[in-house]
Amino acid sequence: MIAKKLAAEKAVEYIQDGMVVGLGSGSTATWAIKALGEKVNAGLHIQCVASSVASENLAKQYGISLVDFSALSDIDITIDGADEVDAQCNLIKGGGGALLREKILAYNSRQFIVVVDDSKLVHTLGKFPLPVEIVPFAAELTLKQLRNLGCETSIRQKDGKNFVTDNGNLIADCFFNQIEVPELLNINILLIPGVVEGGLFLHPKVNRVIVGHADGSLHFMKGDKKE
Ligand code: A5P
Repeated sequence: MIAKKLAAEKAVEYIQDGMVVGLGSGSTATWAIKALGEKVNAGLHIQCVASSVASENLAKQYGISLVDFSALSDIDITIDGADEVDAQCNLIKGGGGALLREKILAYNSRQFIVVVDDSKLVHTLGKFPLPVEIVPFAAELTLKQLRNLGCETSIRQKDGKNFVTDNGNLIADCFFNQIEVPELLNINILLIPGVVEGGLFLHPKVNRVIVGHADGSLHFMKGDKKE
């Protein structure tokens, strides 16, 4: 817990007055939202956009001012967690099912800061099942095409029912075990009709990766501390 909290709080140090900030989802991003809430209560003026209904609700509790996706033309910094980070800083995201909005924020932000504890670091992506958001009405056909890419996959379940994303779609969790070339797999996934978005976030869009450790230390896997 301390490792995630430290990484998230370090990322919040990059937020300045007047910025438009993307809020990630998940337990690490939650620490960032809490830290931002404290800064807002102490007088920081920012506008935020949330990547999930859960993050939106949390931000509201802290009195953080929120803008709708449709009103956005620019995002300064997005802070978000990840499920796996490889040695090149490619990511798997979407363990919480918020990958579509998370990816839109990451893609459109001037800076995308990833905050993780060191348990998320891997040599090669793929042990964590890759989440892919798909449209519900063609689920079986889309699963079949995903299997053709070399994975085992099924629709994510929650409380005995299909998990439904904030966008009304389903999540196919794809077990690849080893993703040797994430760039190629990402393209092949996105080419399947019925796929809305995939959970591979590629390194060119990742500006900083801040890693927290249980002993209270931090390291920057990508990005300069002083920038
Ligand atoms: C949410 O959809 C995910 O992308 C999260 O960022 C990811 O699952 C990391 O979550 P934790 O911070 O809870 O480990």
